[in-house]
Amino acid sequence: MALYSEKVMDHFRNPRNVGVIENADGVGEAGNAVCGDIMKIYLKIDNDIVTDVKFETFGCGSAIASSSMATELIKGKPLEQVLQLTNKAVTEALDGLPAHKLHCSVLAEEAIRAAVKDYYER
Ligand code: FES
Repeated sequence: MALYSEKVMDHFRNPRNVGVIENADGVGEAGNAVCGDIMKIYLKIDNDIVTDVKFETFGCGSAIASSSMATELIKGKPLEQVLQLTNKAVTEALDGLPAHKLHCSVLAEEAIRAAVKDYYER
């Protein structure tokens, strides 16, 4: 079996929602001290719904695929649902990640939570 699923490869090669939202309503960042990878999430929020989301990820292929999938999963969703997104859900949506790459999906969960927190604190 291939190390990475087709979905991981697809989101790595053609990441969705890459970029910056200049006037974002919430911005969150997460990093992993061991590998040094960093993920930043920008949210546009209207009436507690995520109307737009972009990400910048300086990291490995699994982190890029996780960011891409996570942004797709939260787009158009209410914040209460967004806050429930776990790295497990991101990994499942990608049809799995190798065990030593699971931490990459944790960055997505953490960065999204940080962005929602930033929104609430404004
Ligand atoms: Fe660090 Fe993937 S190796 S996020």
